[in-house]
Formats: sequence, C-alpha cells, structure tokens
Amino acid sequence: MNLVYLNGDYLPLEEARISVLDRGFTFGDGVYEVIPVFGDGILCPEEHLRRLENSLAAVAIPSPLRHDEWRRIFTRLLRERTARGDCSLYIQVTRGVSEREHLYPEGLSPTVFVMCRPLATRDYSQGVAAITHEDIRWKYCHIKAITLLAGVMLKKLAAATDGCKDAILIRDGYLTEGASSNVFIVKGDRIKTPGTDGRVLAGITRDLLVRLLRETGIGCEETAITEAELRSADEVWLSSSTLGVVPVIKLDGQPVGDGKPGAIWSRAHRLYEDRKLGFTTAVQQS
Ligand code: PDD
Repeated sequence: MNLVYLNGDYLPLEEARISVLDRGFTFGDGVYEVIPVFGDGILCPEEHLRRLENSLAAVAIPSPLRHDEWRRIFTRLLRERTARGDCSLYIQVTRGVSEREHLYPEGLSPTVFVMCRPLATRDYSQGVAAITHEDIRWKYCHIKAITLLAGVMLKKLAAATDGCKDAILIRDGYLTEGASSNVFIVKGDRIKTPGTDGRVLAGITRDLLVRLLRETGIGCEETAITEAELRSADEVWLSSSTLGVVPVIKLDGQPVGDGKPGAIWSRAHRLYEDRKLGFTTAVQQS
C-alpha cells in the first residue's frame, strides 16, 4: 500500500484525515502541483516546486516547506511505493483550518498533503478528439488553484460529447489552453502556442517542449492565437504532465488537417519522449 504524507506524518491513504473546516474543503482555498515520475526519475522537480511557490505567493499562503524538505518527502513516498512503474506526485497545500468565513485570519498553518499515484499508461498516438468552449474559468489561470469547478464541468462536457478528451478554451476570440492541458497549433511549418500570461497555466511540459523545439531548430512561437487560426490549423496538440504531447485529430467533430496525427507532432513527440529523461532527477534509493 502506498504511503501518503499529511502535515508531517507518513501514513496509508485510508488513514489520512483532515478537518471538514479545512479551507480547501469549504472554499477551495488552496493550490496544487502534479509532477510526473518516469521510472525513478522526477521530471523537472525544481520547476514544479518554483511554480508551486509562485502559486502559493499569488494567493498569500506561506510556503510551508523548503525544496530539500519537499524532496525528502518525494524520496520517501517514491522509495516505499508498491508499484515501480511511472507515477505522478500530487501535492496540495491549503490555507489550513478556520471558521467558515471568507476573510481568513492571519497565522493559519497550511495543510500539506502529498501522494503518489500510478500514471495511466494510455497510448494516445492515434490522436484524440476535443471540443471548443468559451473559457468560463476565472482570470488568474497562472495560479494552479484547487478551485477547479469550471475545469471539472468542461471535462465532463467534453467526455459527454463523443468521448472527447479535453475542452480547448477560447477567451475574447483567442485560444487560451485546454481544461487540463496547454495547446499548440501548427500551420505550414510554424508551431505556435499562447504566451504565458494570466490566461494560461505555465505548463512545465509546455515549457520543456518549447525549449526542445527551439534548441533543435524546429522552432516554436509564443504568441496570441485567434480562434480562426485554431480552427484552420494543420495540427493541434495538447501537452501536460500526465499526457505528454498528444495530437488532436478532431475538433468539434471536424477533422484537424487530414484527420490524422501530423508529421510535425510526430517529430515533437519523439523529441519530447527521447529527451525528457535528461530532465529528471533520480530518486535516492538508500
Ligand atoms: N494539469 N493547463 C491546465 C489548466 C492544467 O490543469 C495543466 C495540467 C496544464 C499542463 O501543465 P503541466 O505540463 O505542468 O502538467 C495546463 C494537471 C496535470 C492536473 O490538473 O492534473
């Protein structure tokens, strides 16, 4: 049985308990991270921890642990996990327990939870379908907030529409991102993805892919993308820690390009898969 970490203790998931007055439960008042682990290598741990700190700072929750303390928790959970395959570390930090009042008192102790879950090994190389939808989320999408009701509704709507994998979101006529992924488009030989402002999450997979595409000379522009550009793209891709880089072959029931995973996706996917292990940090085994 996998152990989880909760507020300083290591215990089986079934025994982990928090108060119903935890502000994560009553207000969705917290932030989270998802870090993929390939074999015994944690992908971009520093980048994920920096993003966690940015999210915490943005909502004025004090950062509860130093990087070395986080790493010690990851090491213990990963070393003691029962299945050795790829997994993800889920971290959640809430503001802590208080009376159910919007205005939080100062000095609360954040609730800190970490668990490790197997990564679903689904093969998306044949491509997935997606819907588009108005971006109905709040405007601070750079914060990885646990308040995910809009995303939950959008994913359900996508799934209920012929089993679509994600909802690709449009705000004021421009592509933002997927409900739980970043989006890339290809037109001709140009790859584009929206820049990281408050409208999208700065995806770690996205950032790594942009870096690799640039380093290898394939290139990638970070720029505003109109809805019309999205709809006339030759290729559309999704990226996330749990998906990697996945081709979208159908958008709102219409084929994307020729309706098959594109040649440029194929190169980008291979590049990411071949290089990602070089960005992992090994879990110490002793
Ligand atoms: N979600 N945008 C949104 C809204 C997301 O929720 C995610 C990831 C991403 C991709 O970020 P990254 O490459 O760092 O995983 C972009 C995670 C996987 C989740 O909520 O489970």
